Amino acid sequence: MTQDLQQLAFRSEAATANEALSGLLAILGGAQRRNREAGLTGAIAVSGARYFQVLEGDGEAIDEALARIEGDPRHENVQIVARRPVPFRSFEAWSLASPTVLPSLKLQIDLAISSCEADCDYAISLLRSVVMTQHLNGCLLAA
Ligand SMILES: Cc1cc2nc3c(=O)[nH]c(=O)nc-3n(C[C@H](O)[C@H](O)[C@H](O)COP(=O)(O)O)c2cc1C
Repeated sequence: MTQDLQQLAFRSEAATANEALSGLLAILGGAQRRNREAGLTGAIAVSGARYFQVLEGDGEAIDEALARIEGDPRHENVQIVARRPVPFRSFEAWSLASPTVLPSLKLQIDLAISSCEADCDYAISLLRSVVMTQHLNGCLLAA
């Protein structure tokens, strides 16, 4: 699985306004199970009506997941902001981590999602640092 390790990052919008968070709760369990089976790891943040997700793993496994994700009517305007080989995983312990976007983080995360087309590295590293911080604080279990 590490021979062709790739990273994908995308942004999308919940199909129904204000339902991004409840949509995520419906998606998460199945997505984590399928990602685990496919050797994929990653994280997703929800801010307002927008999703920002990172997936990493074998290129073919990413293609398969992406085809399903892009065809999912629960969100729209799926914009891929990164697709590239990477030397290591940023979310190794998580099939799909879903950190809480606390009010104190919302502005920073909103800005990162808004500008992720121009600067995907900032958005990805912010997501990673939020996941790591919440994990160290005991607020986020490995999933
Ligand atoms: C924002 C968003 C992110 C998703 N992320 C994943 C994911 O990481 N892995 C996954 O298997 N499904 C994910 N899904 C769910 C898929 O789109 C799809 O519903 C699921 O893979 C089942 O596909 P199927 O109904 O064609 O079998 C996501 C859906 C949304 C809306």
